[in-house]
Amino acid sequence: MQSKNYILWMTGLSGAGKSTIAKKLLEFLKNNNHNAYVLDGDVLRKGLNSDLGFSDNDRKENVRRTGEVAKILYSANVTVIGALISPFRVDREKIRQLFPADCFVEIFVDCPLPVCEQRDVKGLYAKVRKGEISSFTGIDSTYEKPLHPELHLQTDEMTVDECVLEITEYLKKLNTAAL
Ligand code: ADX
Repeated sequence: MQSKNYILWMTGLSGAGKSTIAKKLLEFLKNNNHNAYVLDGDVLRKGLNSDLGFSDNDRKENVRRTGEVAKILYSANVTVIGALISPFRVDREKIRQLFPADCFVEIFVDCPLPVCEQRDVKGLYAKVRKGEISSFTGIDSTYEKPLHPELHLQTDEMTVDECVLEITEYLKKLNTAAL
């Protein structure tokens, strides 16, 4: 039986691999009878956060609302996997404060901008370079790297499976009964 649930908050540039890792991690947790749910920025922006754009203030509100949803899910004993750029330290710290210290895991999904740009899975970096999108994170909008994340995954050097393994090994260390 599941004994403990977590907030696994992934932060990083667009294209760093947050959503991909989140999906695989969700699969792993579910296969291990762990109740989990992914809160993905791209998905939330189609519904709950569809009124928000990419100004600093809108991003702050986007992260704040998602933190509140995470709180609701957490109180229902669900492990929440957050996959939002969440570019500002102060906003990520506010989310952290919503949860018990030993349940919040900040995961820096780290990938150099040129590699994200080269991957350009959604074709957005190309649009930025053509001047069709502005205020893009890492280019003309700020990204503040975490200073002391619980986990630091370098996705230009690790496979998705290696990233998921590092997260699940970390959870095992936190609470051997959880997985
Ligand atoms: S956040 O900054 O508010 O946390 P969020 O994770 O919800 O961002 O959304 C980021 C996603 O929106 C990106 O992965 C990308 O698909 C899309 N996007 C569209 N425009 C931008 C932009 N200007 N900056 C960053 N991401 C953008």
